[in-house]
Amino acid sequence: MDEKIIIFDTTLRDGEQAPGASLNKKAKLEVAQQLARLGVDVMEAGFPIASGGDFEAVKLIASEVKGITICGLARCLKKDIDAAYEAIKYAKSNARIHVFLATSKIHMKYKLKKTEDEVLRLAIESVRYAKKKINDVEFSAEDATRSEKGFLYRIIESAINEGATTINIPDTVGYAEPQEFGSLIRDIKENVPNISKAVISVHCHNDLGLAVANSLAAIKNGARQVECTINGIGERAGNASVEEIVMSLKTRKDIYSGLDTSINIKEIYKTSRLVSRLTGFVVAPNKAIVGLNAFRHESGIHQDGVLKEKLTYEIIKPQDVGFMEQGIVLGKHSGRHAFSERLKSIGIKLSEKEMESAFDKFKTLADKKKMVYDEDLLSIVEEEIKVVPEIWRLVDFAVNSGTSIVPQATIRMKSKGKIFAGKSSGDGPVDACYKAIEKIVGIKIKLLDYHIDSVTCGKDALGEVSVKITSKGKTATGRAASTDIIEASVKSYIDAINKIIIR
Ligand code: KIV
Ligand code: ZN
Repeated sequence: MDEKIIIFDTTLRDGEQAPGASLNKKAKLEVAQQLARLGVDVMEAGFPIASGGDFEAVKLIASEVKGITICGLARCLKKDIDAAYEAIKYAKSNARIHVFLATSKIHMKYKLKKTEDEVLRLAIESVRYAKKKINDVEFSAEDATRSEKGFLYRIIESAINEGATTINIPDTVGYAEPQEFGSLIRDIKENVPNISKAVISVHCHNDLGLAVANSLAAIKNGARQVECTINGIGERAGNASVEEIVMSLKTRKDIYSGLDTSINIKEIYKTSRLVSRLTGFVVAPNKAIVGLNAFRHESGIHQDGVLKEKLTYEIIKPQDVGFMEQGIVLGKHSGRHAFSERLKSIGIKLSEKEMESAFDKFKTLADKKKMVYDEDLLSIVEEEIKVVPEIWRLVDFAVNSGTSIVPQATIRMKSKGKIFAGKSSGDGPVDACYKAIEKIVGIKIKLLDYHIDSVTCGKDALGEVSVKITSKGKTATGRAASTDIIEASVKSYIDAINKIIIR
């Protein structure tokens, strides 16, 4: 039987720490439910002491999501451990408290302002305190890769003596190099006398683009838990990506023989899209495993090779990770039954009301577009099951633009049953629309990022627009799709504004 690599997903904690990624409670629950379908073993649902919202989200996830370990993060402080426990204690299957404390000289001196002895005592007291509340306790030596090894061994040994069952070795600033990191894990195995009583975990950041390589090197040297995030999102350059680690282990069975995860790889693509949609973080087209180009062959030589034998240029079958086939699935003559059956087959369940409205949108789209692909259906549904209440919604718009006139936009929007209109000129049609919207909502907004992608191919493809905006010190992302890119631009802007207002 294969030895298991425990997948500890921290999309909802470290991933959510990525600037601008913050998710509300409902969105977090939606991601958590999908992570459960994906088959992660442990889910770090948040940092409960960080805010009331985070506490409530962890509590909600613990009480709703079954079958996996729900973990809450805590510093080595009683109030943090209390908050983590209060949030996770409702867990349906198993609950874990994850305490962390920095062990590098740089962090101890400048951040904690504590000596080695003080840090060691705090770690011991905190693991002991957490262990009184719960059996499953993980201890992380923050900035482990820049810590002095002798001290690292001592603190790990003490944490295990106090009952920590998982010891996590974070490469907090993404400083390690694979061979060096692998050796560190081997050294820990050889120098910490009681290490066999705990699972060795690793948590790698991607500052040098080595997070996945470092995680795999650690696995080769005895780590049996990896901490990672969907699409590799996270602090700064992000964390090791779940999909890349899992597919490396699967694809290179010759190297990682006897090791496997419980991940249901067919759910990978859907999970990636969901996280991207809800966080507003667009997945780069060349991103391994989940990028849109990951399985596209452009050069004639490659296309010829793939047509003759897929194995020539494909090491993973796209459908294995849940990539949609680009076959024609529906058209304007398709009925409600075919529509709902197709949604079911790509794993989407909608309430009756959502189904009604999604079907109307499908019909409108099918009138404009000859071929409706699964990807188009996903976009329609994503619009339908918006997790952000629509404080403002678009009624209609008109733009006048051309090479020899100043672009003008008129927008009508609805809020609390009333319709408001705004008019503006701008540098281009989108800019004119955005200025008109600002006039209506009455807040000053700065556009930080604007991104447009086509969802499927062809001249009639849906255009998907993602924006990032900031207003009153808050940042939010918005996304929308339409065959009309001005409409997608307007709707994504309104989506982001609604998120700012809610926050
Ligand atoms: O990067 C890090 O060190 C962390 C810890 C809290 C595990 O995220
Ligand atoms: Zn981290």
